[in-house]
Amino acid sequence: MYIVSTQIEHVLHESRRFAPSEEFSKLARVKSKAEYEAMYKESIDNPEAFWAKAAEELHWFKKWDRVLNDDKPPFYKWFEGGQTNLSYNCLDRHLTTWRKNKAAIIWEGEPYGQRQILTYRELHRQVCKFANVLKALGVSKGDRVAIYMPMIPDLAIAMLACARIGAPHSIIFGGFSAAALVDRINDAGASMVITADGGYRRGAVVELKKAVDEALGKCPSVRKVVVAQRTHTPVQMVHGRDIWWHEAMENASDVCPAEPLDAEHPLYILYTSGSTGKPKGILHTTGGYMVGTYYTSKYVFDLREEDTYWCTADIGWVTGHSYIVYGILANGATSIMYEGAPNFPTPDRFWQIIERYHVNVFYTAPTAIRAFSRWGDGWPARNDLSSLRLLGTVGEPINPEAWMWYHTHIGGGRCPIVDTWWQTETGAIMITTLPGANETKPGSAGLPFFGIKPAIVDEDGKEVDNSHSGLLVVQKPWPAMLRTLYGDDERYDEVYWSKYKKQNWYFTGDGAYQDKNGYYMIIGRIDDVINVSGHRLGTMEIESALVSHPMVAEAAVVGYPHDLKGQGVCAFVSVPVGNTPGEKDKEALREHVAKEIGAIAKPDIIRFTDALPKTRSGKIMRRLLRDIAAGRDTTGDTTTLEDFTVLAKLREDQEA
Ligand code: WT7
Repeated sequence: MYIVSTQIEHVLHESRRFAPSEEFSKLARVKSKAEYEAMYKESIDNPEAFWAKAAEELHWFKKWDRVLNDDKPPFYKWFEGGQTNLSYNCLDRHLTTWRKNKAAIIWEGEPYGQRQILTYRELHRQVCKFANVLKALGVSKGDRVAIYMPMIPDLAIAMLACARIGAPHSIIFGGFSAAALVDRINDAGASMVITADGGYRRGAVVELKKAVDEALGKCPSVRKVVVAQRTHTPVQMVHGRDIWWHEAMENASDVCPAEPLDAEHPLYILYTSGSTGKPKGILHTTGGYMVGTYYTSKYVFDLREEDTYWCTADIGWVTGHSYIVYGILANGATSIMYEGAPNFPTPDRFWQIIERYHVNVFYTAPTAIRAFSRWGDGWPARNDLSSLRLLGTVGEPINPEAWMWYHTHIGGGRCPIVDTWWQTETGAIMITTLPGANETKPGSAGLPFFGIKPAIVDEDGKEVDNSHSGLLVVQKPWPAMLRTLYGDDERYDEVYWSKYKKQNWYFTGDGAYQDKNGYYMIIGRIDDVINVSGHRLGTMEIESALVSHPMVAEAAVVGYPHDLKGQGVCAFVSVPVGNTPGEKDKEALREHVAKEIGAIAKPDIIRFTDALPKTRSGKIMRRLLRDIAAGRDTTGDTTTLEDFTVLAKLREDQEA
């Protein structure tokens, strides 16, 4: 049982602590705080020896010459001179063991009754075949492949096939629109797109191939499109360009040895929002990312051979890359992959899946947990969740209420919860509490993972004391870190390293503070990026989408606290004088944003206004808009505001 140390809670100072049970700790990989501290110390005092030991658990075609090359910060190299292959380590490595016929992926489709189990051998066979398909269609080492697919096994197969031949993939979340596809495909210069006719979402079909067709008119680099058949929605196949997945696979050989790749060979690009309009192509490479995701999966999820593990993320986000596919399969674990919505056809779909497969480790997002708790305690109670032994969260800070609900109604009061802080950029989990070793505290991510050296500093880089919040930085390079922004070393340097150039610290963009036990509490982004349901959206990107609509003169987008999504999107929109837009226009703008970016970016609130609050130099004062959107009084400095009536007017409208 969990031990509740104290029951007192007030807003900022959560003091409840939960220690893992003795049974849990006894069987865990790291069994006590002392053991964690010893390993952590070793990893910081002697990082190269520490990571070399971790890497040795995996297969290398050629051993590295140097663990860390830090000659030219911020361009770090890990396991330089080494050659390996992540597809090999996720698949072939297990085939010579009893795991060969162990389930690698258990797939559950959204429509009831559709399921598939791929053993390690079978997954290997499919991956080899598809790697041969890629080669036959002209994809070679180094070529970029865009993947735009629903959550079906073919998606994992496509990734592992790309990794096998050294063709970096760029997965684009299936919820993004054709316009978002264009930017991402062109930035990467992808020569192939892998997609499907459609995908299922809450019973409806999302027409993926149609979006690809719409995009490709503007993507000159794409020569081939492979289309998996999922929904049997009619699609148009372009002669000479489009190939059905199942037809291409029919005669493909299942022999395809994994290509030995340099440790720093690019593994994938994944686009994420930044504070400017243009998405950032985060580049991850092979060896360091492999070691980082392998090791964090092993220790944070405390993976045991007999575990069935389930991460509910979409593979289109980094969580799915690292913790549905790469890190989990590198450990030889069984990974569940679910295609659809959590409430289809009923709000207990997730709990049914846990019961059916006896899931032991479950990893999901705070936004989902808040939705579950709203749907009612009755839904989890209908299902047997007693197989669960460990829970995790990721994507945004979790509010203590949601944490407690998760702990009580899903974890049955007995499962440790690992709150994992990390980013697309970090590749792997950075801050969390190792479940058998450290107490958890609702709402706090916890302590650094091995080899990670975070700090909370002020603008000048001075460490702040425990009673203050500050900026979260990472003071040492780590294996799974991003290597650059694809094709833009300069922006990489600027965004992440210029703020603390002297010190060579990585700037996370998050605000945080530490409690007296050294636990890190992440407050959230301090740049113009908002976190909607655990996904980062650049406010600039949404603004550009809005102003591309003829009705809009100017737009400013800010986040505001949202019960379910963590943050909601609030757009202040000014229209040319003389226009009096109404509710219908709001809906039109919302649809327009969905078309330009995707439904996830749709503003929750649109407020029409004659003017936006600006400084004398013309900069929109978002801080003020954030206060208005949140219904707060403005506490900060307003002396730089040019026209005070604008602010007064916005407030008036608010009250009206
Ligand atoms: C941003 C990264 C990491 C995979 C999913 C999101 C926020 C993430 C936590 C957490 C508080 C968190 C941060 C971070 N975030 N996990 N456990 N507690 N905040 O990846 O889209 O790259 O977003 O998500 O603000 O910087 P991402």
